[in-house]
Amino acid sequence: MNAKDRLIVALDFDSLKKAEKLVDLLEDDVTTYKVGLQLFTKEGYKSLNMLKKRNKKIFLDLKFHDIPNTVVGAVSSVLEHGVDMLTIHAMGGFDMMESVAKLIWQRRERKNHAPKIFAVTLLTSLDSAFLQDIIGADSRTVEEEVLILAQAARSAGIDGVVASPLEVKMLRKKCGDELLILTPGIRPRGFENADQQRSATPFEAIRDGADYIVVGRPITASENPKKVVKSILKEIRDGLKKT
Ligand code: C5P
Repeated sequence: MNAKDRLIVALDFDSLKKAEKLVDLLEDDVTTYKVGLQLFTKEGYKSLNMLKKRNKKIFLDLKFHDIPNTVVGAVSSVLEHGVDMLTIHAMGGFDMMESVAKLIWQRRERKNHAPKIFAVTLLTSLDSAFLQDIIGADSRTVEEEVLILAQAARSAGIDGVVASPLEVKMLRKKCGDELLILTPGIRPRGFENADQQRSATPFEAIRDGADYIVVGRPITASENPKKVVKSILKEIRDGLKKT
């Protein structure tokens, strides 16, 4: 995979027009875009069609979390629209993840197009207080919980996980090279701080073993998105040399 294949730009916009404008501005520098809850609930499949028309890859980040039957139904509906990557919640449980994995693997066996499935481990907005107060996992650290969820996803047959940059190194070490790791919470050099607690630079995330990084506001809110993308791609290339 080259540097460009590893960068996913998050189209967290409230209108298709704004998303379209950015995609056109970035031209061939970006090949994969994330459509998340905001754009999808506003514009629906129009947002995916806009990207397909431009031959872009689609990461549909709707983080499905429901009973196995319902999630399998939702994934099946999405499959008709040809997305490349899709998220579910690992906290939806082993049976849910396994049911989705079965559907995907059956399609692959039949040589039908199937997206890579990523299980969200622990949302980066959650911390040890959530584990203690809500889940009741008093003795577990965030890192331990993320590992448990990633291992469950892997044994259920899921392709990869979404985790914060702070867990990437540990996951790569404990789960091996097969597991795909996608990480948000990225702040390019010069953009550090903002509102990201568990964040890292593109260089750090890739060096630590992430396969994909998702970057939103540093690009979307920039005066010069193209320049930011180019410097992120350079950071990714530098990170790849250090893996
Ligand atoms: O913060 P930024 O705009 O780069 O976020 C890009 C995407 O990464 C968002 O769409 C959000 O879903 C995800 N994200 C996350 N955890 C964070 C920050 C952002 O999962 N701490």
